[in-house]
Amino acid sequence: MRIPVTTLNDGYDLPLIGLGTYKLAGEDVETIVRTAIELGYWHIDTASFYGNEAEVGKAVNEAIAAGDVTREDLFITTKLWNDDQHRAAEAYQESLKRLNLDFVDLYLVHWPWPQRGLYVEAFEQLTKLQGMGQLQSVGVANFYPEVLDEIIGATGVVPVLNQVELHAGFTQPELRAYHAEKGILTEAWAPLARGENFDAPEIVAIADKHGATPAQVVLAYLMGMGCSVIPKTANPQRLVENIGAVELSLSDDEVAALDRIEGGRMSGDPLTFRGEVR
Ligand SMILES: NC(=O)c1ccc[n+]([C@@H]2O[C@H](COP(=O)([O-])OP(=O)(O)OC[C@H]3O[C@@H](n4cnc5c(N)ncnc54)[C@H](OP(=O)(O)O)[C@@H]3O)[C@@H](O)[C@H]2O)c1
Repeated sequence: MRIPVTTLNDGYDLPLIGLGTYKLAGEDVETIVRTAIELGYWHIDTASFYGNEAEVGKAVNEAIAAGDVTREDLFITTKLWNDDQHRAAEAYQESLKRLNLDFVDLYLVHWPWPQRGLYVEAFEQLTKLQGMGQLQSVGVANFYPEVLDEIIGATGVVPVLNQVELHAGFTQPELRAYHAEKGILTEAWAPLARGENFDAPEIVAIADKHGATPAQVVLAYLMGMGCSVIPKTANPQRLVENIGAVELSLSDDEVAALDRIEGGRMSGDPLTFRGEVR
């Protein structure tokens, strides 16, 4: 299956669909990541906070050693956790060590945590790592226009993407318009809304019409609006199902129907979210 790629503002290509790994734990991680790579998921999203970088790295290194892929084929993202914002360079080296990789393709500041006031310093550290050739691309997650303006103003670097909560019922049109104007890709986390709106009549009707599944419909919808998506599953059959979304295209009427789904944020508000700090 051919996975479409999008070119980031620094010239690197990102496969539009990747594997999310939040809550993948234990032996599942290695098996699922290895299977995912075999199926064509060459974009993998982890984070130091997920506690699974070592297992993700093991699966990646095994796939490379087996000749399934080369390191260049893969796009690996990890993230700087909130209470490491004052020590981004060290935290990055620790992530590399756990992953057992020489570099990652993309390192994100996981949340701005504005109350702490360190997000500019943290992003600046990432740009320095990039400048030293230790890191391919720099980005952010859960940022909003005010803090994006600040980090861009302070560093002169536009993050390649902003990974934000985004799904049918919560498609963040204003934020997407801001990103488009700045050349920042919108990456959707919780693109499946964790399965919670799969019974919405609009999704069910479109799925039935195409002989597709609700997951495929919502993923095709988000990719059609230009977002990259990182659905998580610990189920090999759902890995196949979710990546199959690249073969589905929706009509304007279907997109308009999905636009009418109501919903809202399912998780932390970036204005206040500080996460669990160690
Ligand atoms: N930057 C951030 O702050 C942030 C926050 C949250 C998440 N993320 C990233 O985004 C990724 C995706 O978000 P998410 O994991 O929260 O939510 P999600 O991908 O929207 O949903 C995952 C849930 O949907 C289920 N699922 C997967 N495929 C399915 C299918 N085809 N049919 C029915 N159910 C299905 C999974 O269960 P099974 O595993 O049992 O299949 C899991 O419970 C994360 O894994 C992580 O990499 C980033």
